[in-house]
Amino acid sequence: MAKDLNFLSPCSFVIFGATGNLATIKLLPALYNLEVANRLPTALHFIAIARKQWNQGDWVTHVHDVLKGKLGDIFSEEVFERFVARFSYMEGDLDKRQCYTNLIQELGKPREGACSNIIFYLALKPEQYMPVVQHLDDAGLNRPQGLHRIVVEKPFGTDLESAKILNQRLHQSFDEENIYRIDHYLGKETVQNMLVFRFANTLIEPVWNRNYIDHVQITVSEDIGIGSRADYYDQAGALRDMLQNHLMQLLTVVAMEPPPSLDADAVRDEKVKVLRSIRPVPRRAIQARAIRAQYAEGSIGGESVAGYQEEPGVEKNSATETFVAAKFYIDNWRWKGVPFYMRTGKRLAKSMTLIAIRFHDTPQQLFRETPLQIITPNWILLSIHPVESMQMEIHVKQPGLAMDTRVTKLAASYRMDNEAPLDAYETLLLDVIEGDRTLFIRFDEVEMAWQVVDPIVKQWSQDQIYIPSYPAGSWGPEEANRLFDDDDQFWRNEL
Ligand code: BG6
Repeated sequence: MAKDLNFLSPCSFVIFGATGNLATIKLLPALYNLEVANRLPTALHFIAIARKQWNQGDWVTHVHDVLKGKLGDIFSEEVFERFVARFSYMEGDLDKRQCYTNLIQELGKPREGACSNIIFYLALKPEQYMPVVQHLDDAGLNRPQGLHRIVVEKPFGTDLESAKILNQRLHQSFDEENIYRIDHYLGKETVQNMLVFRFANTLIEPVWNRNYIDHVQITVSEDIGIGSRADYYDQAGALRDMLQNHLMQLLTVVAMEPPPSLDADAVRDEKVKVLRSIRPVPRRAIQARAIRAQYAEGSIGGESVAGYQEEPGVEKNSATETFVAAKFYIDNWRWKGVPFYMRTGKRLAKSMTLIAIRFHDTPQQLFRETPLQIITPNWILLSIHPVESMQMEIHVKQPGLAMDTRVTKLAASYRMDNEAPLDAYETLLLDVIEGDRTLFIRFDEVEMAWQVVDPIVKQWSQDQIYIPSYPAGSWGPEEANRLFDDDDQFWRNEL
């Protein structure tokens, strides 16, 4: 059915924090790509707000530099002209009422196809969310005649309590159906592809449970450090920055039951059930179930890199973790007893997002009398980054006279060579514009994920004196191996 675009489409898209890290690295390129694909509604106008004392010309130059730098040869001046013409830059201090008065004026300017549908995108530090929402409310900007959506980035709160408070505050000004909580991992195509892999292939479902699966590993490793984000990261740490949201979301997609439909709420109901079933980590077990560490100096790709404490803006003697590994159990019929090992960190050996699923040993050692020593278990490897593929490791006989085997991989690469990758933000921004909330987080998901990690957050924040380190360029601290239930379990660092 054709949508009534005038009614459904936003006409104004306000970006708070328009010159910040997120807007620069993710939002501008993704919006530009939507322009390339002709997916932005004709009347959509962006208002970019930041503190920088820039005029429109400065903004245009900035956007040009960002996009040209990022896209290189595929950058098109022609598309850029069209794209940048959609923007108005507005200098503003988000703590001052004046900023919102100016915004009202800017929104009121006559434009072709203008309407009162607005999106507010908070590309800001988490502590700015509540004050900005309060200002929007005071200025009546949450009550336009048309639709009014607000997009909030993760981390949503800094612990369970603060997440609840933030949520209440948002609900005072916006209806739930207009709140878009982003976890950009859900916008990654390969993450969505996991749903297809699991629920569109009959042969996967029967083995996707504790009867066949020994354990699940979820790794999101990055070789980058914290760059210029110390003011945010030093407060957050890897647990809040990555595990509570991105890794937990990956876990729900791996572990959820098939939803009755692909409706936003049907999918989210199933994800929440998984989070609710995660066995709580009692305080006394935290040491055994969660490991933290911080990168020290080391070398990555042959280049020396500084330790976390030497990064600009990091507090001396900071005990913020840049690595976390943890073990969780999902106490439901499907997963009882199957450990889910999760780890993430900065300045690790390489950037990789991998879900590795190890199957049980064969029940019978049929090949005991042959030169075959041990038959290793099967693995399914769902690789999200940098390779987008699914691989199944199975044993085959080696050609020759001896009864020998080797491991071979059945590989389904996700993308053909001629198919361009999409960034998660393109999908998500389009969904915000079109009003599809399936890939956004409902508050009960946030709440349940906080419930799982909150004891660890609390314990670690009380225990701020000593944090073990790992050399930059390694796979993290040795202690991460302590989490394994069995001697033959080990971290998969390769596909
Ligand atoms: C962000 C975190 O949410 O995700 C960053 O704040 C992290 O610290 C980033 O680097 C990783 O995202 P991606 O898409 O590059 O894996």
